[in-house]
Amino acid sequence: MPRAADYPLESAIRQSPPLNINKAADDTWVRDKTIVITGGASGFGAGYLKRWAAAGATVVIGDIDVEKGDRLVRDTGKRTGNKNLHFFYCDVTDWQSQVQLFKDAVKVSAHGGIDTVVANAGITDPDPTIEKPEGLDGPNPPPPNLAVLDVNLKGVLYTTHLALFYLPRNPGSSPANPNCDPFRIHRDRHLLLLSSMAGIWPLPAQTLYATSKHAVVGLYRNLRSSCFMHGVRVNLICPYFIDTPIVTTAGRMILAGGAVGKPEDVVEAATRFVADPRIAGRAVIVGPKLKVAQNENGEWDLMEREEESGEKQAIWELYAHDFEDSELFTRNIIRIMNRVTEIRGWAGWFQDMIKAIKHGIRIRLLQEAG
Ligand SMILES: NC(=O)c1ccc[n+]([C@@H]2O[C@H](COP(=O)([O-])OP(=O)(O)OC[C@H]3O[C@@H](n4cnc5c(N)ncnc54)[C@H](O)[C@@H]3O)[C@@H](O)[C@H]2O)c1
Repeated sequence: MPRAADYPLESAIRQSPPLNINKAADDTWVRDKTIVITGGASGFGAGYLKRWAAAGATVVIGDIDVEKGDRLVRDTGKRTGNKNLHFFYCDVTDWQSQVQLFKDAVKVSAHGGIDTVVANAGITDPDPTIEKPEGLDGPNPPPPNLAVLDVNLKGVLYTTHLALFYLPRNPGSSPANPNCDPFRIHRDRHLLLLSSMAGIWPLPAQTLYATSKHAVVGLYRNLRSSCFMHGVRVNLICPYFIDTPIVTTAGRMILAGGAVGKPEDVVEAATRFVADPRIAGRAVIVGPKLKVAQNENGEWDLMEREEESGEKQAIWELYAHDFEDSELFTRNIIRIMNRVTEIRGWAGWFQDMIKAIKHGIRIRLLQEAG
């Protein structure tokens, strides 16, 4: 049985080693970058804008909330003195709207390119009808409302598609390389995806939201094994409940008495990813700041008393579905399939070709017969 160690996939796909979680981000590495953020008018997006504006980056936000976006850019510009902050209307569910956002970003970029794209826009399910199939026995059964998939999945796929076009065309940037010297390379090509803890575990009553966020984890896992071919690095953040406007009153009631995270910890994690050109193919979860320790059984215990040793932390590296398990499985399947093909040889190929031609003729005859 082959072992994961026999296949050093991490180096083949240029995945960087595990993060040093205790190290703070170096904001000076963000300075010369042009960064595009979808859904940047509120919550995390607003937090990224404020921090990266203060660090001297060119930041372009696209959002459907024109009033909030305009005001945020104006106020942050005044406070930081950064004149390279821009708001453009963008509805991520509308392809032309996103195309225009990327074109506008290139236009306002001092170096004519985009260094980082943050696919951040997201909504929760305003109308969770998928599990309430009322009216289906009527004469015109209504379809479920899939708006959350439009924003959280279709929107993110549009953003990714555009990012993979614009990032490799970023003039003067270096292709992503985990072994680069971060003191020399400030401008590279980076896509940061936003999923959620609901991308790795269920979130009852928000089925479509959790489905969309699982899909973003899937997107990330696929991209990180192919993005290096475009010289693009991809990373992922999966926040737990964090205090932003997306958390509804009902959500806050359910969480009452528990722990909720702070947006600045998500901004810190994102800054780490954006700033450091060596980080590629890594994912973190961000939650409330807690002090925990591993017991002798390898389980995590909460350190409740202040005097107990250890630092509080909000950012944790996420190893879920890592290559060690999943990619070995894929490799084994492919190996077996290739072996079958080898054994069947040219005779097998010839038989299958005849079958395929017969299939084509049959379909054609059926179509012609109406
Ligand atoms: N806050 C949390 O607890 C939490 C947890 C896990 C994941 N997330 C994810 O983080 C991301 C940011 O969320 P947030 O907490 O900052 O929420 P938020 O509601 O404060 O911000 C989301 C922004 O997206 C914008 N937006 C919505 N639909 C859009 C569209 N069609 N086109 C463009 N922009 C649109 C909104 O106007 C808003 O400005 C989302 O993808 C969210 O799912 C948040």
